[in-house]
Amino acid sequence: MKKVYLLAAVMIFAAAISGCKKGEEAPAAQSANAPKAVETAQASQAPKADVLKETQDELINEARTNFQPIPLDVKEGYKQLKNNNPTPEKLELGKMLYFEPRLSKSQLISCNTCHNLSFGGDDYQQTSIGHGWQRGPRNAPTVLNSVYNTAQFWDGRAGDLKEQAKGPLQASVEMAATPEYVVEVVKSIPEYVELFKVAFPGEADPVTFDNVAKAIEVFEATLLTPNSKFDQFLRGDSNALNADEKAGLKLYMDNGCTSCHAGINLTSDGYHPFGLKETPEEKLLAGDKGRFVVSEAEGDEFAFKAPTLRNIEYTAPYFHSGLVWDLNEAVAIMAKSQLGADLSAEEVAQIVAFLKSTTGEMPKVEYPILPPSTNNTPKPTYTID
Ligand code: HEC
Ligand code: HEC
Repeated sequence: MKKVYLLAAVMIFAAAISGCKKGEEAPAAQSANAPKAVETAQASQAPKADVLKETQDELINEARTNFQPIPLDVKEGYKQLKNNNPTPEKLELGKMLYFEPRLSKSQLISCNTCHNLSFGGDDYQQTSIGHGWQRGPRNAPTVLNSVYNTAQFWDGRAGDLKEQAKGPLQASVEMAATPEYVVEVVKSIPEYVELFKVAFPGEADPVTFDNVAKAIEVFEATLLTPNSKFDQFLRGDSNALNADEKAGLKLYMDNGCTSCHAGINLTSDGYHPFGLKETPEEKLLAGDKGRFVVSEAEGDEFAFKAPTLRNIEYTAPYFHSGLVWDLNEAVAIMAKSQLGADLSAEEVAQIVAFLKSTTGEMPKVEYPILPPSTNNTPKPTYTID
């Protein structure tokens, strides 16, 4: 009983205080409340801080015409998915499959082998090493933020991540599996069959190659790197970047790097000849005709996707051929080959300082525990077809 009285007394007291406050400061309180109301409306989807604060800072405002920050809530990546309804069950399954080496013929190689989530989402190799120690023809791009790429691969031959995921599973120099092999492995492990049933409810035969790709896509969609210093700057914090980083950002925009590396993922929708203004050293092209192989259109010879530049300090070596290890060198090559610009060493260093400010918070992934094999699970093989 005592408690109830006490509570009532506190409530009356509180009402009295708030009542008198309202009376005294009505106009001020109202103007402070107005923007808040908008914020709360947005907060139903994203965390509260995920807004672009109004600012007089000209550099921020110019940057906002070119770039958008990665959402603070990584589940926002789901909005990019098409024909693939994301659920917690698919996410968990997709994470397991991403780390599942038994999907490869040697049962040694998983997506994480070449897109290492402890290490920027790629493999730190000139070009990837896959099945039977074979070396592939191209450098592995990062999977981080890749849900924001409108096309996947250096030549754009996959439209989205679920189409993409089927590539490496089958590529003879990567995981060297077949769709039938992948289904056989999964079906031989009862725990997986159950997890597929739960992740794809209502499907008569949920263990399919398509569903493997769909689950992996849902997991990949959450691999975002929010809250970099650059994103804090974009959201309105003028002090998030230091003088060199700001100078680099200005040079980056003034020189037109933005024509190919802009938007949310500092990439572009199209393909661009490597050597638009000046052909780079021939060895950097490595005889790879890029987009031309897919489109056979004349202008597409040596055209490549302009890759994301977020987290670029993690993803050396650079270019599709992976021949450049030094980021300063890569930037100088870009300025010359794509823009015909000779930048000074200081300017290059400032652009690099800016690029390093795009490194965000890496996804924290709890290492999944994979179910044990059974006697029916295929054994590893190492032959090269
Ligand atoms: C043997 C190394 C290797 C393995 C294993 C591998 N990848 Fe890749 N991945 C690459 C390479 C190399 C490329 C670039 C190929 C190209 O563009 O021709 C690539 C490209 C990608 C891309 C495109 C990114 C972009 O920006 O274009 C995504 C996404 C991706 N891989 C996801 C996966 C997934 C999911 C798996 C597992 C099912 C996987 N990879 C397994 C090496 C690998
Ligand atoms: C006309 C389009 C275009 C312009 C302008 C451009 N780039 Fe690129 N950029 C590309 C393409 C295409 C690639 C991939 C080239 C390849 O590997 O074949 C690339 C690759 C890069 C890479 C290597 C990324 C990686 O992961 O390997 C960096 C770094 C880079 N660009 C920075 C810049 C900077 C800085 C500028 C401005 C000085 C710039 N780019 C201007 C199209 C462009």
